[in-house]
Amino acid sequence: MSKFNIAVLISGNGSNLQALIDEFKSNSYINICCVISNQKEAHGLKRADDANIDTHYIDHKRFTSREEFENELITNLEAYKPDLIVLAGFMRILSSLFVKKFLGKLINIHPSLLPKYKGLDTHRRVIEAGEKFHGVTVHFVDNTLDGGPICAQSSIKVTTDNIKDLQQEIHKLEHKLYPEVVSDIANKKISLSNGKVIRK
Ligand code: GRF
Repeated sequence: MSKFNIAVLISGNGSNLQALIDEFKSNSYINICCVISNQKEAHGLKRADDANIDTHYIDHKRFTSREEFENELITNLEAYKPDLIVLAGFMRILSSLFVKKFLGKLINIHPSLLPKYKGLDTHRRVIEAGEKFHGVTVHFVDNTLDGGPICAQSSIKVTTDNIKDLQQEIHKLEHKLYPEVVSDIANKKISLSNGKVIRK
């Protein structure tokens, strides 16, 4: 059976990438084929290197337009024929052309219980609003910001008003949920059809 190839896009620390590496390192079917970062200093590049995964650094500032940057990204990605592109802290908005090209094969993890708290700084906003619950969402990426069809969510009760502590708790949820969803997509238990998530 041919492998299910995952490309991971990052911009920073890459703790979610690490969770994926740890989960799939001895999996004979699911394979992380490459990690691409738009930030040279992204710690995730080192994590990938340490796991003998191909890495690419593509500096978005080198390009005069989003389209040119994405063309370079696509060229790098297509060399691996990825079955799934996993955004893991990738801090660039992707154009509708890119999203359309990889529709159903592009997922993101967001640190909130979407549709609540789209965008940045979610933990602080959750605390300030006095929310009882907070959590994470994995979704297929479409043309809306943090608004694509939801694959899965996981939540906790908010018991702290310390942003760092809450962030750590949320990271733990992310590190469990993201590999689960990736595995379900690879095993065809979750897919996207006509803009809707299908679960088997
Ligand atoms: C995570 O909180 C994720 O939800 C968000 O960006 C953060 C990335 O963290 N999209 P890391 O680089 O995986 O540690």
